[in-house]
Amino acid sequence: MLGLNTRAIGGYDRVLAREALQIPAEYELLAVITLGYPGDNSALPEALQAREVPTSRRSLNELVFEAVFLG
Ligand SMILES: Cc1cc2nc3c(=O)[nH]c(=O)nc-3n(C[C@H](O)[C@H](O)[C@H](O)COP(=O)(O)O)c2cc1C
Repeated sequence: MLGLNTRAIGGYDRVLAREALQIPAEYELLAVITLGYPGDNSALPEALQAREVPTSRRSLNELVFEAVFLG
């Protein structure tokens, strides 16, 4: 509703992220989830522009369980 997007990314500078976010050494950095407003796709290389299309989603009742796991 606010126009914000999230994206899980693995392609980031772990050293820089650790410094900027002051993450203690005992925490290992794996993936991060970015939160922000989408930029203009035309700023991306053509090959990446083609990948910026919505993908399908599983329905929530396949993923979300109340009280007990119903897999
Ligand atoms: C382990 C992992 C690492 C990823 N790293 C990046 C990344 O560095 N940059 C990026 O733009 N998307 C990255 N992605 C892809 C996005 O998180 C996302 O899966 C993709 O854009 C499809 O998004 P959608 O399912 O919302 O359409 C990564 C995905 C995974 C699973």
